[in-house]
Amino acid sequence: MRILGIETSCDETAVAVLEIRGKNKISILSNIVSSQVKIHAKFGGVVPNLAAREHVKNIRRVFNLALKTAGIKDLKKEINLIAVTRGPGLSPALLAGLSFAKTIAWLYDKPIIGVNHLEGHIYSNWLPKNDNRPLTIDDRQSKNIFPALNLIVSGGHTELVLMANYGKYKLIGETLDDAAGEAFDKVARLLGLGYPGGPAISKIAKDGDPEKYPLPRPMLKLKNFDFSYSGLKTAVLYLIRDIVTKSPSTKFRASPSTSSGQHRLSAKQKADVAASFQKSATEVLVIKTVRAAKQYGVKSILLSGGVSANETLRIELKKNAEQNGFKYFQPLVEYTGDNAAMIALAGYFNYLTNKKSLSFYSWSKIDMDANLGFV
Ligand code: KG4
Ligand code: ZN
Repeated sequence: MRILGIETSCDETAVAVLEIRGKNKISILSNIVSSQVKIHAKFGGVVPNLAAREHVKNIRRVFNLALKTAGIKDLKKEINLIAVTRGPGLSPALLAGLSFAKTIAWLYDKPIIGVNHLEGHIYSNWLPKNDNRPLTIDDRQSKNIFPALNLIVSGGHTELVLMANYGKYKLIGETLDDAAGEAFDKVARLLGLGYPGGPAISKIAKDGDPEKYPLPRPMLKLKNFDFSYSGLKTAVLYLIRDIVTKSPSTKFRASPSTSSGQHRLSAKQKADVAASFQKSATEVLVIKTVRAAKQYGVKSILLSGGVSANETLRIELKKNAEQNGFKYFQPLVEYTGDNAAMIALAGYFNYLTNKKSLSFYSWSKIDMDANLGFV
């Protein structure tokens, strides 16, 4: 069967076509992502209404390109299911994708399924290279991965989710304030690195000393599996202020309450701050994830979400998971950010487990609140 995936929860307009052949052989026929990053960069973060406007403007073009790339000439005959992100995300942005998907479903009389964005991130772990070489999910199953523990780290979420099987989840921990990606973005802003901050921080951190500045490891000592990142961001703000006041050659013009990066740290100082922050932010994730995996007796650990592109996190989590006897999976870097292939695949697994919800008309009656809890 072929699934059309649509994702507009934040600042990427994305449409993909997946093909599932035989017994769960996944091929990505197309995976188009149109990023709005440049538009939001000047505001230092995503502006919801602007994001929605851009989605409305671009989605038809992205949709046409996804179909063309996939070689789909007749949607009515060649697509079997439509999967669309229903939340969580920015409400106006989500509505743009939902309205488009529902229109297509109505026009072509296709079944449609609403997908939880975070569930999509989880399934990015199953996506094969974009070269049509199928990956057999049965291979993964035979490796016996369940129960699994997911660490989902994105711009809006930091969650530890137990997965008993496909479609069966339990949230065991989450951030109490900022998400991990949000902390990367805010610290990047303090360092004057622009948006999005994660890639910029990890880039300059390569030249920095992660041991240079001791920063807190929030909530590490607590036995629960929750996280907190707002205090770490504030610690970085005061660290920058202290470096500047102690260094005669640097100027600090921003008050502690502003976050404009209006100071002059040397490139080396910036790199050391970035590396020290990155170490602190990722160490808490790694230690608490492995601790939770032990406590819940899972077989494997799966990483996902935008922050899963972070090299330090990938290396450290893999090392610690495997040293402790867990199987470890992480998405290919190209699927760590928001994309519609992961939404299509999550839609497919929902279809396998709950075919009932597939009628366009019945689905249109379900609660479409963008802030629905984790499915
Ligand atoms: O999953 P995602 O693309 O969008 C949301 O669902 O939020 O995640 C975006 C987040 C941003 O905060 C971005 O700074 C972060 O992922 N990110 C990274 C890296 N690449 C992207 N954070 C740390 N290191 C990276 N290399
Ligand atoms: Zn995301």
